[in-house]
Amino acid sequence: IHKWYHSGLNRWHGLGSTADFQKIIQERCDTYPQQIWSYSRSRNCQEIKQAFMSAFISKDPCKATKEDYRRLIDLADSTVPCNKRVLWSKTKELAGEYAKVRGLVTLEDTLLGSLADGLSWCGEPGSSDLNTWSCPDWKKDCRTNYLTVFWEVLSERFAESACGTVQVVLDGSLENAFNEMSIFGRVEAPNLKPVVTLQAWLVHDPGKPPRDSCSGSSIMKLKSILSERNVRFICRDNLSRDEFLGRF
Ligand code: APR
Repeated sequence: IHKWYHSGLNRWHGLGSTADFQKIIQERCDTYPQQIWSYSRSRNCQEIKQAFMSAFISKDPCKATKEDYRRLIDLADSTVPCNKRVLWSKTKELAGEYAKVRGLVTLEDTLLGSLADGLSWCGEPGSSDLNTWSCPDWKKDCRTNYLTVFWEVLSERFAESACGTVQVVLDGSLENAFNEMSIFGRVEAPNLKPVVTLQAWLVHDPGKPPRDSCSGSSIMKLKSILSERNVRFICRDNLSRDEFLGRF
């Protein structure tokens, strides 16, 4: 039996930390486009990387708090236009493509979002290394893991500072295109400002029939969350990927 087994590094059910995590963060920070979206006061990528690491290194991977990321956010905060934001749920790739062709932005276009995009990370008490074997899974281990709390904090800020029309890309091939337990459902939708209009797009996968619609019960639930907040709601369904991206 190996040493790592005894040390418990393999006990979580989620993917382990991404190999070369620090190197990737540093590289992405160094090459994040200065001009367009970031008014980033000259950023110190060394410092940003260190703040990211010290948010979770040596800590219990199930006891993440928003506070842990405070310093990182202070250092690396960047702004993107408040009226060009695209949210998504189960449609990360499609939403990214849509944003790109329309000149809009997703959370992954902000500095912090781009640093962490697609990565996984967690530490271990008593160790200064990342746990590359496993990290806590939201469902099977704990909700207050470092990955989840990171995306929650960023998502909350992204949603609450949005203005004008905000778009959300949802998967119309699912039985419930809107899921109250998703980050969009539990963090972003409930934090939109009253003046905002939310435009939802229900896009179904090529080769799959649409299963949910703007009049389905999941979207009704979204509608009720929004109407409590005085957020206007527009919904379009039955769109194929190509129709949605504007190629016919
Ligand atoms: N890279 C890796 N993981 C991510 C990323 C990312 N760029 N963004 C979010 N995650 C994590 C979160 O923990 C999230 O719950 O992956 C999960 C994706 O789950 P989905 O059910 O597909 O979507 P949802 O939970 O609704 O989260 C996506 O939140 O991150 C914001 O603005 C983003 O609107 C988007 C929504």
